[in-house]
This record gives sequence, C-alpha cells and structure tokens, in this order.
Amino acid sequence: MSAKDKIIIFDTTLRDGEQSPGASMNLQEKFRLAQKLVKLNVDVIEAGFPAASTGDFDCVKNIADNIKGVQIAALARCNKNDIDTAWEALKGGDNPRIHVFLATSEIHMKYKLKMSREEVLARAIESVKHAASYTPNVEFSAEDGSRSDLDFVCQVFEAVIEAGATTLNFPDTTGYALPEEHGAQIRYLMGKIPNIDKAVLSVHCHNDLGLAVANSLAAINNGARQVECTLNGLGERAGNTAMEELAMVIRTRADQMTVETNIVTEHIYPASRLVSTITGMPVQPNKAIVGANAFAHESGIHQDGMLKERTTYEIMNPVDIGLSKGNLVLGKHSGRHALKDRIDSMGYSLSDEELNRVFDRFKELADVKKEMFDEDLEAILMDEVLRIPEAYSLRTLGVMSGSRVMPTAGIRLEIDGKEVEKAAIGIGPIDATFRSIAELTGTKSKLLFFSVNSITGGTDAQGEVMVRVEDKGRVVIGQGADPDIITAAAKAYLNALNRLIYLEKGH
Ligand code: KIV
Ligand code: ZN
Repeated sequence: MSAKDKIIIFDTTLRDGEQSPGASMNLQEKFRLAQKLVKLNVDVIEAGFPAASTGDFDCVKNIADNIKGVQIAALARCNKNDIDTAWEALKGGDNPRIHVFLATSEIHMKYKLKMSREEVLARAIESVKHAASYTPNVEFSAEDGSRSDLDFVCQVFEAVIEAGATTLNFPDTTGYALPEEHGAQIRYLMGKIPNIDKAVLSVHCHNDLGLAVANSLAAINNGARQVECTLNGLGERAGNTAMEELAMVIRTRADQMTVETNIVTEHIYPASRLVSTITGMPVQPNKAIVGANAFAHESGIHQDGMLKERTTYEIMNPVDIGLSKGNLVLGKHSGRHALKDRIDSMGYSLSDEELNRVFDRFKELADVKKEMFDEDLEAILMDEVLRIPEAYSLRTLGVMSGSRVMPTAGIRLEIDGKEVEKAAIGIGPIDATFRSIAELTGTKSKLLFFSVNSITGGTDAQGEVMVRVEDKGRVVIGQGADPDIITAAAKAYLNALNRLIYLEKGH
C-alpha cells in the first residue's frame, strides 16, 4: 500500500485544449480521444462546454452516455441556462460533474463582468446551489484566481463549499504566476478557508510564461490535490499544463514526491500522437517527453554512453511512455488475427468493419514496404479509423516532375459516385496535384499550413502529410499517409476538403 496522496488528473484536452486556435475536433474525434483518456486512466474528463454550441452539447452527451468508469465534467458559466444545458448533456454519465466558473479578479469583475464583489459572491453561491440540485459533484472555478484578492477568493470558496461545491479550482488564467508565488497562494488558501477539508483544491495553470508545469508542481507541494491539464499542453493561447510532463515528473522523481497519479504512462505516446493527428498540431521536436527528439541521442559521446549503459543519458525509459522500441511488428504474411492482437496491444479497440479496412490497407502497404513498425500501423489507423465520410475520394494519381520538366499531375477522383479526372500543371508536383484537386472539386480553399514527416526511418518509410486549410472563415486540418509523399499530400488535402463538407452539413 502506498502512503502517497493521489493527485486527481482532470483532463481538459477536449475543452480548454480545443480552445487552441485551429484545434477543433468533431464528434467522432472527441469520442476517440475520450476512449484514449480512459486508457490513460485520467480521473476526470472535461468533455466540453455544452452551452457554447449544439455541436459541443452533442459531443459531451455522446461521451457522457457512452464512456463509463470515469467522471465526465462539463463547463458552464454561472447562469441557469448554462447549468441546465450542461446537466442535460451530462446526466447519462457516471458520477457527472458540473463545472461552473466566475471571475474573481478586480480586472475581470470591473471590465468584463461589470459586477461588484457582492454580486459575484451571490451569483457564485446561487449557481453552485443550482448545480448541486442536479449532482453532488460540483466544481467551482474562480477565473483569474491568481490575480485576485486572496481574501476575496477565500470568502467565495468558503461560501461555495457551504452551497455544495466539492472541488474548488484556482486558475492561473493568464499564465502570470511564478512557481513560488503560486505555491504560496495555495498555502494561503489551504490555511485560511475554514471548511477546506470538505473539498479538493485544484489548479489550472496556463503556460504563457512557460511555467504551467512548474506552477502546478508548486501548487501540489502546498496542498492542491487536483491538477487540470491537457495532452501536448494544448489550450487557450500558449496552452495548459502538459499532462504527460506532469505525470512523468511525478513518476520519474518519485524519490522527491509525496504524491502519485493514476496515469498509465505507457499510453502517453500513443495518446499524444492521436491528439496531434486529430488537431493537426504537430508536437515540437524538442518538446519534453513526447517530442521526436526527447529520446534521440545525437552526440558521439552520448551515443557511446548509451551503448554502454542506457541510464548514463536517459532519466526515463522510453518504454514507460509507450514509445515503440522500433519493433518489427508484422510482415506481409501476418493474418487478421495477429493484426488485431497488435492493434489491441497498442491500446485501440476497433469495430469489425474498421478492422477490415485497416487490414486491407495493411496488406497493401506490406506488399511495398518490407518492414512494418508500430508507427506504420498507427498511421494506417489514423487514416482509416479517424476518416470522416468521403464526398471526394482518391482513385488514382500520376505525377511527372524533375529538374527540367514542367510539374504535371493527373488525378482521378470519385465525386458523388462518379469518376472524374483532370490534369494540371504547377510550380511543383504538390502544387500541380492540389490545383487539379481544386479544379475537379470546384473548391477555392486556401492552404495555410503544410508539413511532411517520415513515419519511420529508411527510404521506404511512409510519408505523413498534415495540411491546414481555410474556406469561408472555417479552418480544418487534413491528414494522409502513404509511401509516396505526393499521394500522401493528395490524401491530406482531400481529407481537409471532406471535413469542410462534413462541417457544412452541420456536424
Ligand atoms: O483558464 C481558465 O480560467 C479556465 C476556467 C474556465 C477554468 O479555463
Ligand atoms: Zn483555461
């Protein structure tokens, strides 16, 4: 039995994370990510803000109704309609949590809310009481807490505990706090609020100064027992506390920690990949824990040390975050059963129909690529399983390019059941391909971002392309993988156009 206190991991990738510019997710993607969060064993999933839009409402309801064994939370402003809407979306869930928030700083109260302290206090009490009439699991957040008068926060927290709040969140909404200061703020609240033992004190740190993880740790060391965080540190502006960093600090420096988490860290890397694929936001290569270089050793001295003893330069074992050991997974003779076993062990659960699609793609790829790694399989999973209904699908693509040739692409698409084809020239082969797609589909979207990465090493590696595309003010991402990078680019572009159509249909 461990004598350590548990830190409640409140994951808000689906709510604050989705507030990252361009990171919106659809219903299926949010559901897939919620399933992954269950594998990670987070304690609370904040699934969305139901009063914000019908799309958000549907996503929260879908997750609350179908994902069990974890608390599902939904955000609401301190007003009756938001709280009623949040409850309507949440009520099918296991131990659902209504999370209400109201600002307590002078700046927010004066300029944004135009409310006095007395009005804020009264509204907070009234809202918590209303939420508590639906569920005993109520969280209250004092927005901009770290820039608020702490005695006022104490007054509000004491009153909302009386009104039925069981979690009190003290956000560093603007990412302004310093670690020592944030720790001292938490210590102050813990010492001053007389009924604090009836609730859990939580923090929610933004990363504007790059201090979100450090501030969360300082808060833990002073009594906070819930941390709100996101995968890959996604979130409003510079993002939130990165869950993978916090969990790995607590695990790696267990010698210094009086707390632990329930996170199954072996699911961190696949979960991080899923988030970047869904949102189209690649992880920076030198990002702690999940960046491509986090376990790469470049200098000769380091490589030599690693060969002699891994721990000379590695403080964490990559296997502990679920990073593939570069294992050869399967070959072209592997059957459906072996593939399913491998996919299960990677933490995915597929329907029979999804498995069939993945199996067909796997066989196609194994014919041209000798060695298949976990990463290859993962790229196929992303492509096939997260694929949204296709209004436009790629049939064939032929491209001519070189140093003295006018780059030309000939493409055949299926649109509404009919095959159509077109050839176009461009500045390069990708430009030619995208032009022919735009002409065939009659679309006028703008390409905002394009990236291509090699999924594994070797010249026969699959290329993974991500694009971000804008049309009529709507920004979507598209993703495609293929051993041929121009084909991967065409798939990514079509995937983005299909998403635009899907959104236009009101999803
Ligand atoms: O940053 C913030 O203050 C928030 C609250 C709604 C918790 O996201
Ligand atoms: Zn926030």
